[in-house]
Amino acid sequence: MAGERDPAPLDPNFTGAGRAITDADGRYQFTTIKPGAYPWRNHDNAWRPAHIHFSVFGSSFRTRLVTQMYFPGDPLFAHDPIMQSIPDERARQRLVARFDLSLTRAEWALGYAFDIVVRGRDATPFEERR
Ligand SMILES: [Fe+2]
Repeated sequence: MAGERDPAPLDPNFTGAGRAITDADGRYQFTTIKPGAYPWRNHDNAWRPAHIHFSVFGSSFRTRLVTQMYFPGDPLFAHDPIMQSIPDERARQRLVARFDLSLTRAEWALGYAFDIVVRGRDATPFEERR
């Protein structure tokens, strides 16, 4: 990615972003590389859990909602100030994708489901607007 400062090797086929339009049922799909944890120097020995950023747009860019999807079982959840800034454990769990064997493609890719709910009692936690 442009501006990348980490010395780890880069995949030249990975652009760092993707875009999808949901179908009539609100479903979407991405095929990508599963990210790893990365150091972010926010505090001593600070690591972000593996995650993927999502921006959800309505009918215009002004209706943008931003969130992050995490992978199940990550040992860094308890150490991540962003994840822990959500006080309710059930709400935190709504940011964790579900492994779904039916979405897995043999010898190609694991499958995870991440339902983004934009409003209501089970809404996905979104980042605050600044
Ligand atoms: Fe990130």
